[in-house]
Amino acid sequence: MKGIILAGGKATRLRPLTLITSKQLLPVYNKPMVFYPIETLIKAGIKDILVIVAPDYPGQYLKLLGSGKEFGARFTYEIQEEANGLAEAFIIGEKFVGKDNVALILGDNIFEHDFSEDIKSFESGALTFVKKVHDPQRYGVVEFDESMKVLSIEEKPEHPKSEYASVGFYVYDHRVCEIAKNLKPSKRGEIEINGNPSVNNTFLEMGELQARIIDGMWEDAGTFDSLLRVNNFMAEKAKQAAGE
Ligand code: TTP
Repeated sequence: MKGIILAGGKATRLRPLTLITSKQLLPVYNKPMVFYPIETLIKAGIKDILVIVAPDYPGQYLKLLGSGKEFGARFTYEIQEEANGLAEAFIIGEKFVGKDNVALILGDNIFEHDFSEDIKSFESGALTFVKKVHDPQRYGVVEFDESMKVLSIEEKPEHPKSEYASVGFYVYDHRVCEIAKNLKPSKRGEIEINGNPSVNNTFLEMGELQARIIDGMWEDAGTFDSLLRVNNFMAEKAKQAAGE
């Protein structure tokens, strides 16, 4: 299993902070945000990692992360010229993925969950990870049956069919690259993972999309409030670990 961290994007909601640097280099308590998705992948057993960044910041990422040796991993870098959508990760990463399976994590998504069991047992098709939320209409909402087979995915629906939000972690076999290359942009002009058309909806139509429920804290750190929450959470966790 290979890993991709998608750390490009426009980060308009965090301006003016993101006029200083890339969103995923901003601090979350005592380290840069991107360390968290890196640690999530490594904890899941994934050590061959492609980091995709926006054209303004490759030097900062390379300086911070280097070859990956210090993390016990191997990092490769690519630039996404424009924020054309999440699914572009698999077009940019096609050579990197090759014939392997691949996990994609969004660079601003912070998880406590341990993904290693699902990574170890994955054979083919697609896994989309979900978490129960109290305000599903703000998210991509995933409906699934008792066997965890996904029945529908809807972006920010007025009448959600479940309470489960799609989180920024996805696992696919190598066909995802071909699927991404053939996707047309959605109404908002992006090639998408959850919209219509999208990578996940293609696997869903093929009957090969499964949902997995995650445990513990999850934040998409892309707004001032969620960034503050996750900073406070990590500060508290560090204090507890130190026995304070
Ligand atoms: P978003 O938070 O949806 O978008 P954004 O980061 O550009 O922020 P804003 O909405 O405030 O303008 O993106 C989710 C993650 O995916 C984030 O880590 C950035 C990354 N991303 C890319 O790398 N490339 C893309 O084309 C898009 C759309 C997002």
